[in-house]
Amino acid sequence: MSVQEEIKRRRTFGIVSHPDAGKTTLTEKLLLFGGAIQVAGAVKNNKIKKSATSDFMEIERQRGISVATSVMGFEYKGKKINILDTPGHQDFQEDTFRTLTAVDSAIVVVDVAKGVEIQTEKLVKVCRMRKTPMIIFINKLDREGKDAFDLLDEIEQKLGVTVSPLSWPVGMGKRLQGVYNMYNKKFNLFESSKQTISDGESVDIYSDEFDANVGEDAADTLREELELVQGACPEFNIEEYLNGDICPVFFGSALYNFGVQELLDTFIDIAPYPLPKEAEERVIDPFEDKFSGFVFKIHANMDPNHRNRLAFVKICSGIFKRNTNYKHMRLGKQLKFSSPTAFMADKKSVVEEAYPGDIIGLHDSGNFKIGDTLTQGESVNFQGLPSFSPEIFKYIENADPMKTKQLNKGIDQLMDEGVAQLFTIEYTNRKVIGTVGQLQFEVIQYRLEHEYGAKCRWEPMTMHKACWITSDNEEQLEDFKYRKQRNMAKDKDGRDVFLADSPYSISMAQDKFPDIQFHFTSELK
Ligand code: G4P
Repeated sequence: MSVQEEIKRRRTFGIVSHPDAGKTTLTEKLLLFGGAIQVAGAVKNNKIKKSATSDFMEIERQRGISVATSVMGFEYKGKKINILDTPGHQDFQEDTFRTLTAVDSAIVVVDVAKGVEIQTEKLVKVCRMRKTPMIIFINKLDREGKDAFDLLDEIEQKLGVTVSPLSWPVGMGKRLQGVYNMYNKKFNLFESSKQTISDGESVDIYSDEFDANVGEDAADTLREELELVQGACPEFNIEEYLNGDICPVFFGSALYNFGVQELLDTFIDIAPYPLPKEAEERVIDPFEDKFSGFVFKIHANMDPNHRNRLAFVKICSGIFKRNTNYKHMRLGKQLKFSSPTAFMADKKSVVEEAYPGDIIGLHDSGNFKIGDTLTQGESVNFQGLPSFSPEIFKYIENADPMKTKQLNKGIDQLMDEGVAQLFTIEYTNRKVIGTVGQLQFEVIQYRLEHEYGAKCRWEPMTMHKACWITSDNEEQLEDFKYRKQRNMAKDKDGRDVFLADSPYSISMAQDKFPDIQFHFTSELK
């Protein structure tokens, strides 16, 4: 197979949803179709349950599982599919945001009864910022839920997307009869007893056989609703989908494996192969000869005796080869890797080469930070991965002065992994850790102690948000920094950050310093 063909057959995507919408169940069903796993239940549940908040062993166990399921690759109908796992737990949403920078498209799972939930809103917003093509899967149709029209309305309102249904349900819950596929104009009957994988039987909805099968009333309703929906929603257009302008919608039940194959078949048809990626210097095309890639996730080894980590690299162009020197842009040094790892379902194996779209795991003894670029020599840097303003802030203090070095090293490495964000207040030189959830503080404290032999203590602080500030008006910027010096900090890359203690202080600052831009993500756009 030519390199071009190898690249074009790759589909790298993430499934995003609010916890409990059915992401794990859907992932598992997709893997079953790919023959990557043999039985349902083989993919361990990667969710960190709420009760795990202070159960550290549970956190460690989950970290182990999440390495195995971080990337799940499988073959399906000649395509190489890579599913990138995105933690559903909201305390780990930064991790999800970063993983979304490595996907070429996304599937958004929505619970038919709960509709669009908060976590889905946040994640879709990130996809929209990056114009990631999205397919929406409305799940749990075997249960009673919201009216399909109302749901589409809600999706458009809350997610700010335009939808174009490619399937339409007949009934719901106990009355669920099936789903009509508007893409290939076939009807799939729902049989709750049939949890096995089959190609699904299809009939023409305008045939007598169809009326006889689902009943005249249901058939009429479907035909009427289809007319309505086709009048109300734009027709599916692949270009608009690829631009992130419209989202095709499918209905189904992941649990009953219903509508999943249609979703997968359509997905491999329409979802993009690796797309050109913007670097600071230029746009990199996946079909270029020379290798380039970037680190979007770092996973620490769970075994404290082996401190090495696994850096997950998304290949953006060229072919990555084992034991070949590549340039680490930030450090300006050449590195080669003797055991790059590829991920197939829940197995890992050493690979000789990998193509754009693929994710490889590189063993790392501390060279990598999230966002680092590797190239075959050219000086390009992929654009920074976004950090969002944390929601909870605490001072981190050294609880064992004999272990200052260990503490600093531990903090640095955990920040490189992207566990949380570090801000240093210049005025007092105190360190502030910002996270999106309480759980991270416990993880940090536990890991500092167990992996680095350091002890920390948290001190509360009342902070509302971190805003990255920029301005062309140097004088105003300096004046602002001087007046707000107690609230001014540097992030880990040395950028200016205003730690605002209330929404009011942000709006006051915006009024008084009109030439300063306040950014709530570190991607200063
Ligand atoms: P998540 O990864 O998005 O958090 O969701 P997950 O797949 O774990 O699904 C959450 C719950 O919803 C699970 O039930 C799962 O069985 C159920 N579920 C998923 N898809 C469907 C569906 O299509 N129909 C119905 N009726 N239920 C579905 P649970 O009781 O929380 O867990 P479990 O004990 O079944 O694992």
